Amino acid sequence: MNDIHSCCDEESSEVSRDDVQKFYSNAAAATQENLCCPADYSGDDLSHIPEEVRSISYGCGSPVSRANLRPGETLADLGSGGGIDCFIASKSVGASGRVYGIDMTDEMLGVARKNAVPVAENLGYSNVEFKQGFLEAIPLEDASTDVVTSNCVINLSTRKQDVFREIHRILKNGGRFVIADIISEKEVPEAMQSRKDLWGECVSGAMTLGHFIEAAKKSGFIGLCFEKDYLWKEVEGIRFYSFTIRGYKLEPAKAAADAANVQAIYNGPFDAVTFGDTRFAIGEPVAVDRKTADILDSRAFCGEFTLLDPQNETPADSSSSCCG
Ligand SMILES: C[S@@+](CC[C@H](N)C(=O)[O-])C[C@H]1O[C@@H](n2cnc3c(N)ncnc32)[C@H](O)[C@@H]1O
Repeated sequence: MNDIHSCCDEESSEVSRDDVQKFYSNAAAATQENLCCPADYSGDDLSHIPEEVRSISYGCGSPVSRANLRPGETLADLGSGGGIDCFIASKSVGASGRVYGIDMTDEMLGVARKNAVPVAENLGYSNVEFKQGFLEAIPLEDASTDVVTSNCVINLSTRKQDVFREIHRILKNGGRFVIADIISEKEVPEAMQSRKDLWGECVSGAMTLGHFIEAAKKSGFIGLCFEKDYLWKEVEGIRFYSFTIRGYKLEPAKAAADAANVQAIYNGPFDAVTFGDTRFAIGEPVAVDRKTADILDSRAFCGEFTLLDPQNETPADSSSSCCG
């Protein structure tokens, strides 16, 4: 396995960002069947979105529907294309939320901006803005975003470590990313990486899962977890899968841990797990700050932690118990 530097830090392939941009200028004009992976959107998610947007949807998953969005949250979708995921998020975060679509390609932005008008009419509010920019230099302020999503785009970047650094920069502390992307079962050989057609088709720029996780960790993400969604295709003997991967930006707030007075207990099945710098041994309460408590209590951890939280405990009705 190459080390993480050769995988993600350098402009490592002969394919350039201009090549990718040309590829997607064409893909904005007419549906490219070879780019369409199954994306599993529900009808309810799409009912307010015009057909033109749906016809150039080139994602490989549905990260927005799996991001547990809450009203009022700010979301940035990287490589927003025709805008499908931004428009789904627009409905979930509601009128008090905000959605930014970031894309470098004029033609994609043209379709997205044009269709933002009927989407706003259908929803009765407007909360989406499409900005031109690169994933490697995202045009958003530091710590401005609750959630970053991306649907089949990071594989297209030739500077992937820069993308993870930028995602970390724009997320608020406690923020999360939910990314659907193509993952290769093993490292893609250099000869294949230099093929512009395969790179544009979201094949030869794919990382292995190990490289993806390493790049995310190197940028400071913790609480990483993933799901394999489906086998997309096999090319030159290498299998390419769609995965959905999530991670959290959580800067330590040790001082707040005592003040919050929340304790987290790891339920098992392992003897211990580490989260960031903290080790949780099975059954042993550990003081955590409130943001950490919220994260450990979230769906990502699937009930693996029990929280003792004085602010959120309701005494059981004791009238019928022997302890009453
Ligand atoms: C495979 S399409 C996915 C579009 C959209 N996420 C969807 O699900 O339909 C990739 C999109 O990412 C954009 N893109 C690729 N690399 C980029 C980069 N480095 N910076 C900004 N946009 C990029 C392309 O212009 C294109 O619109």
